[in-house]
Amino acid sequence: PRPILLTRHGESRDNVRGRIGGDSGLSDTGDIYTKKLANFVEKRLKNERTASIWTSTLQRTILTASSIAGFPKIQWRALDEINAGVCDGMTYEEIKKNMPEEYESRKKDKLRYRYPRGESYLDVIQRLEPVIIELERQRAPVVVISHQAVLRALYAYFADRPLKEIPHIEMPLHTIIEIQMGVTGVQEKRYKLMD
Ligand code: F6P
Repeated sequence: PRPILLTRHGESRDNVRGRIGGDSGLSDTGDIYTKKLANFVEKRLKNERTASIWTSTLQRTILTASSIAGFPKIQWRALDEINAGVCDGMTYEEIKKNMPEEYESRKKDKLRYRYPRGESYLDVIQRLEPVIIELERQRAPVVVISHQAVLRALYAYFADRPLKEIPHIEMPLHTIIEIQMGVTGVQEKRYKLMD
């Protein structure tokens, strides 16, 4: 069995301000996570001959990977966060206040709701297909550093969770979900590196 480690980026400056999307850097807390994650990954993978670190193309995941030494890093656009279209950079309160219909339609059907000029969860699930095929093909461990919506979809695939649950799966910051693919099925461990 070989592990797949899933984690969100360290806390971003937009996370602190409650803004969705964007391409901000990390907060001080997020910076601390990059060091803890590097420590964890280097220990966890020290006996592995090969492994790779996959990030999105957004600064917050690239920065989160930056402290990890010794493994190749690959950027995937398919791992970028759900595109919030016209709502990119807004807070949920601002969307509720300025675009109440959009807010309500998303609440009613978060899986299918597509942000104007952006994406739905179903869109995200579809664009992850090549990532999943490549993950299945890998023989070496992979560390995937991505975003809340994307990791919900990836996790649901491996944990065999139903489609309708995906937008609501808990995906906390500063936590590593380790998935082991063995002959007997999938096993899961969680490591919470910070509060
Ligand atoms: O708030 C962080 C974030 O990654 C946003 O960039 C993104 O729009 C959101 O989470 C996705 O979560 P939800 O689908 O619950 O809004």
